[in-house]
Amino acid sequence: MNGSKSKQLLAHNAALAAYFDDLLAPEKKRIVFGDGDPRARIVLIGEAPGEQEALLGKPFVGKAGKILDEFLEKTGLKREDLYITNVVKWRPTAVSKAGRTINRAPNREELALFLPWLQKELKLLQPAYIVTLGNTPLRAVSGLKSAVIGQYHGRMFPGGAFGAHFFPLYHPAAVIYNRSLRDTYLADLAAFAALLRRG
Ligand code: URA
Repeated sequence: MNGSKSKQLLAHNAALAAYFDDLLAPEKKRIVFGDGDPRARIVLIGEAPGEQEALLGKPFVGKAGKILDEFLEKTGLKREDLYITNVVKWRPTAVSKAGRTINRAPNREELALFLPWLQKELKLLQPAYIVTLGNTPLRAVSGLKSAVIGQYHGRMFPGGAFGAHFFPLYHPAAVIYNRSLRDTYLADLAAFAALLRRG
């Protein structure tokens, strides 16, 4: 691991944890930091941790993570080749009518709170490629507030913010709810893998 980058990342995570300390306490929320090699050329960005991620303290280790792994395998990419993080780093929750704690989409306040930390994280990592998963990270990274993934998926955007090329994909969880997206997802990933091979 690159000593100085990993040290900077540790310092970044410590500062983030300190900043959110008071906000986390009332609900005993847990920060789920990015995970992987800070030297990775590819950074994957999801929306926010779910239940399993909050329990285990790692991004994409639940249902959506399994789908992500399956897709990565098909393109020959491994988790070890990547750094994976989320826009919002705690699990946004709501209480269902039945009284269960359930996931919800991050709200505007949460997005505004966490965005500057994601921006710092990306500046520090300086990846060659940023792969956004779904609308939330696409909007966060591109700055296009009303961008929709249906219009942007599967294409590389040269330049982009943070000096990296970015490549939007659907969120892997979308495939759970919409099986017909599976082929599109695979085609998009194959296109990304081909672009990587060309350098
Ligand atoms: N969905 C996300 O966007 N991120 C995770 O870490 C898990 C599920």
